[in-house]
Amino acid sequence: MDRLEELHRRHAAAEQGGGDDRRNRQHQEGKLSARERIELLLDEGTFEELDKLVTHRGRDFGMDKEIVPGDGFVTGYGYINARLVYVFAQDFTVFGGSLSESNAQKICKIMDHAMKNGAPVVGLNDSGGARIQEGVLSLGGYADIFLRNTLASGVVPQISAIMGPCAGGAVYSPAITDFVFMVDSTSYMFVTGPDVIKTVTHEDVTKERLGGSMTHNSVSGVGHFIAPNDGECLRMIRELLGYLPQNNRDDPPRRPTTDPAGRMDPALDTLVPAESNQPYDITDVIHRVVDDGEFFEVHEHFARNIVVGFARLDGRSVGIVANQPAYLAGCLDINSSVKGARFVRFCDAFNIPILTFEDVPGFLPGTAQEFGGIIRHGAKLLYAYAEATVPKVTVITRKAYGGAYCVMGSKHIRTDVNLAWPSAEIAVMGPEGAVNIVYRRELSAAADRDAVRAQKTEEFRERFANPFIAAERGFIDDVIEPRETRPRVIRAFRMLENKVDTTPRKKHGNIPL
Ligand code: HXC
Repeated sequence: MDRLEELHRRHAAAEQGGGDDRRNRQHQEGKLSARERIELLLDEGTFEELDKLVTHRGRDFGMDKEIVPGDGFVTGYGYINARLVYVFAQDFTVFGGSLSESNAQKICKIMDHAMKNGAPVVGLNDSGGARIQEGVLSLGGYADIFLRNTLASGVVPQISAIMGPCAGGAVYSPAITDFVFMVDSTSYMFVTGPDVIKTVTHEDVTKERLGGSMTHNSVSGVGHFIAPNDGECLRMIRELLGYLPQNNRDDPPRRPTTDPAGRMDPALDTLVPAESNQPYDITDVIHRVVDDGEFFEVHEHFARNIVVGFARLDGRSVGIVANQPAYLAGCLDINSSVKGARFVRFCDAFNIPILTFEDVPGFLPGTAQEFGGIIRHGAKLLYAYAEATVPKVTVITRKAYGGAYCVMGSKHIRTDVNLAWPSAEIAVMGPEGAVNIVYRRELSAAADRDAVRAQKTEEFRERFANPFIAAERGFIDDVIEPRETRPRVIRAFRMLENKVDTTPRKKHGNIPL
């Protein structure tokens, strides 16, 4: 056969994947093929495929008769908004997108390129995990990938999309990466599926409840984003990458904006309710402060008492961490501490400044939290903030009580600029709780206990529930009018643009995991 013909035959076979029937099934389920996904992810016509002709080497179980060039993994590089990315996509039509020794090597190849050339890796997962027919060869292949995921962590951004039923290594590799996207109703993640669970524990559970997109986005916290379909998922990945630098030596990209840096917003002056126990939505504050009101929220459905995500200020990317008074009064608990800590560490690893909005009555009390280890989980958030050397600015909008004051980007853990609104309340605990402890003896001796309590509470509120004592000490750099928040934080970040701060030399710290 003519060499050129042979080349075309192999290319066609690679593009054909697992055949028409399996591809039709993929489309009927509302899923795109691996190649269609890559086309949508990248700038048009920029995909350069590598290893399209690689085949698996399995010889057992009749595998030698089922050889597809490329072996069901599409790998290579291309551009997103003209910036280089490495990408792999698993083709579920070829042995369920399972990982052979050969296509583990394909993934390792692009990851090694990504590390040498300093560009993000995007993995589009649709895979039953390690290829069962290849035994330890495929397990070894996954371990090779896990090592690279770990070494690349904090060096280049790693993004995973879960776009089908994923098990085993196809969920553990994404778990090491920075952000996990899931597609509603077609993606699942589990270490072991419903059938195995039924056999081992006799528990009946659907795959949606066990590992569907909402389970992982709202209950387990494994997923960071839900997209309604494949196309939207790929668009969201492009949007996310627009906030991130290419690697840990690079700065995040700047995007020019027409939103004036000096824009004041009078609506902020009345946004915090006069009654200090009334909720309000902290995302209203975020939208009013950032460029063009655009906020790309991360982990939207998980631990909603803290809000994290990316935005821009004067064109520069910032990571925002904000307590949410509209949910659990903005208390810190186990999940919100872990959510915040992971986000702060991501920002710090990739030179993204951190803006914190604080309104937190304290850590959530109760046996569930204490037994669950709130002490060590809350310590993660404290550790992450203290460790972070990127520019940090904190704005206290209302409550900053107790340990939560220390944790949420206080001056003492090297936050650079700390501002407070006049509505700020900064104290060891709220007035009611404080009076019950400090005046316990007076209260039990008093004839009119309620009147004494009310009077003492008012005295306490007057004295401590304000930002001025902290400002007198310099723990707060300034008390500002809410309307001037945007210009003030933009000026602060401008001042911090060339900040250099260091941490003692060490192999690595020991964050309380
Ligand atoms: C080889 C596989 C495969 C696998 C699926 N297939 N998983 N082939 N190795 N791991 C094949 C099926 O034989 C089938 O082939 C096709 O892919 C589609 O699979 P279905 O079962 O028909 O699809 P579906 O009903 O949608 O279920 C998808 C699934 C299920 C949930 C992923 O296939 C499944 O549970 N697979 C096994 C998952 C698993 O246990 N993997 C090993 C994990 S261990 P045909 O020819 O019929 O189209 C691991 C090690 C890493 O990954 C260690 C982590 C720390």
